[in-house]
Amino acid sequence: MTVIGTGYLGATHAACMAELGHTVMGVDVDKHKIASLARGEVPFFEPGLPAVLERNIAAQRLSFSTDYAEAAAFASVHFLAVGTPQKRGSYAADLSHVEDVITELVPQLRGKNTIFGKSTVPVGTAAHLQDMANELVAPGASVEIVWNPEFLREGFAVKDTISPDRIVVGHAGTTDVEAIAREIYAQPLSQGTPLLVCDLQTAELVKVAANAFLATKISFINAVSEICEIAGADVVPLAKAIGIDDRIGSKFLGAGLGFGGGCLPKDIRAFMARAGELGADQALTFLREVDAINMRRRDRCVDMAKAAFGGSLLGRRVTVLGCAFKPNSDDVRDSPALSVAGSLSLAGAAVSVYDPQGMDNAKKIFPTLDYAESARAALTEAELVILATEWQEFRDLDPAATAALVSRPYLIDGRNVLDIDAWQAGGWQVKALGRSL
Ligand code: UGA
Repeated sequence: MTVIGTGYLGATHAACMAELGHTVMGVDVDKHKIASLARGEVPFFEPGLPAVLERNIAAQRLSFSTDYAEAAAFASVHFLAVGTPQKRGSYAADLSHVEDVITELVPQLRGKNTIFGKSTVPVGTAAHLQDMANELVAPGASVEIVWNPEFLREGFAVKDTISPDRIVVGHAGTTDVEAIAREIYAQPLSQGTPLLVCDLQTAELVKVAANAFLATKISFINAVSEICEIAGADVVPLAKAIGIDDRIGSKFLGAGLGFGGGCLPKDIRAFMARAGELGADQALTFLREVDAINMRRRDRCVDMAKAAFGGSLLGRRVTVLGCAFKPNSDDVRDSPALSVAGSLSLAGAAVSVYDPQGMDNAKKIFPTLDYAESARAALTEAELVILATEWQEFRDLDPAATAALVSRPYLIDGRNVLDIDAWQAGGWQVKALGRSL
């Protein structure tokens, strides 16, 4: 098989399919990315992935190429894993990379081929790509497009790919797609992972519906947070209490700075845009509110920082712990932590940032912030500390030792993960989103 597009999703999928015993070629138009992967180097931070990559290159189950002709000759099963970012100036998804793959690959295919789409796309895209493929396919060859959405989480990408909690395959044909899927995913299926077979549209929608639900759950608890702050309540025990009801469940009820990353924000916007195109915009107008609640948490954190200095941040030394959108990732796309750091800086604060993995990427987006070499260096002489990404290293900080580094022990817990009593006992004044302390 080939895996076309070797970003977070594709590089992980290629390495993990090889780990499952398949012979895999990773394909990308980015020569640098392909050269790095072929050397066994993962060009982003993903725990466990480098070992899987190296092991499978060494076993000669995994190779890389930038050549579509080579890809077409190599396999009859092709995974489509290129990005579908938000279009500039619009909420809709940019499908140009997905279309480019079809345009380049399909004319070169011979015999019978199946393309498994993994990218997150608006409903209707697979049918559109099938129409494109039918126009482009060589005489005597055939191509069937099926949709096989991906549910991996950054930070757990290897585990989520090798042992997914479900496999969804959507198709429009009468061919043996299910048999091919069963062969590809034989190992997880033998371990009990359910396979759900449906039509193309349903498979496309499963993915965006899942991400929209997760985003809604986070914004729900963050909306309740807003009320807690005004009413003098505490969102942390509240979330625990409602999460015990297994109809609600405790996961994704972590109140704080809200969601970011390369998926949830763009996916809810693309979902709304597609609903509008289908004439059903009312169905998803609530997602606009989900987005707005999420963005308001960042503003609220900046307001709390201002209040910590009586209203003005001018010239104040503020340390922001974390700039990745979540721990165990170097991804800063739409990161709440980086957004807060940037806003504080624009409001006149001298902002020092430290993140174990995200700083190289953050420097490209926000070069004007001061990036420290260590948490200790970032904390030294701070007048306010904001925990913005809940890396274990920050959760493990010792309140008394940290108080000795700063010039004023004032903390905002933007992720509600610290032991407030211990920090208060260590001499800190503590504020947190959604809590009355
Ligand atoms: C998300 C989905 O969880 C995956 O299932 C999906 O495959 C992926 O998007 C995708 O579409 O590719 P990911 O972006 O890696 O995965 O991140 P999540 O773990 O979902 O976290 C998203 C954001 O929500 C983070 O910024 C995190 O800090 C925030 N979050 C999460 C909260 O604010 N509170 C919570 O309780 C949980």
